[in-house]
Amino acid sequence: MSTTHTLSVERAEALDDAELADLCEATDAAIIEGGGFGWVAPQGREALTRHFRGVLLVPACELFIAKLDGVPVGSAQLLRPPRNNEAQSFSAQLTHAYIAPYARGHGLARLLVKRVEERAAALGHRVLNLDVRDTQTTAITLFEAMGYTRWGTHPAYARVRGQTVAGHYYYKLLEPTRGRALDIRATTGKN
Ligand SMILES: CC(C)(COP(=O)(O)OP(=O)(O)OC[C@H]1O[C@@H](n2cnc3c(N)ncnc32)[C@H](O)[C@@H]1OP(=O)(O)O)[C@@H](O)C(=O)NCCC(=O)NCCS
Repeated sequence: MSTTHTLSVERAEALDDAELADLCEATDAAIIEGGGFGWVAPQGREALTRHFRGVLLVPACELFIAKLDGVPVGSAQLLRPPRNNEAQSFSAQLTHAYIAPYARGHGLARLLVKRVEERAAALGHRVLNLDVRDTQTTAITLFEAMGYTRWGTHPAYARVRGQTVAGHYYYKLLEPTRGRALDIRATTGKN
């Protein structure tokens, strides 16, 4: 018998204690399983609470929460370039995307990435960049299926439990909500 779940993704401007508790649990579960977020060891509720509260204070960072049946089970962050980086103001970065192992396989990551893309486009960004460890094969399948182009590989991208791990760099051109699409063929001249 199949169960129908409610999937949602929200851009968080504040998090109450219950949401933070669920988010911290999801984050540590993802870290323990070995995936994403940069951390290798679980951080515990206190450190993760500090992290997420800090993220909410950073103007260049937006936090997206993935919910399964209304409960936070994962997140992603949209990083915008600093104001002094005018030449790269057209691009943004998708980072720290993960879904807790107990909530995977329902399509939440796909929805999460789509919502981040929509928000980046609405903010005027035309390019979304991301990078991922070579060992995150599910994420690589997802990003490539969603139209991300791999443009490079860093052979010494991360160190995980004493092992050097390669990482891949991707970009996707975003459909503008207004104005013309970016034509990368026109970017090879003197700039
Ligand atoms: C990658 C990750 C976010 C996917 O989360 P999810 O919610 O299970 O993904 P979805 O259900 O939205 O599936 C999206 C796509 O991923 C791929 N995918 C999902 N589960 C898969 C599996 N077990 N094997 C292979 N591909 C899989 C499929 O392409 C799927 O699309 P489809 O269902 O239309 O075929 C999750 O596995 C995760 O958190 N991994 C560890 C952290 C990580 O790698 N983060 C990315 C680095 S920034």
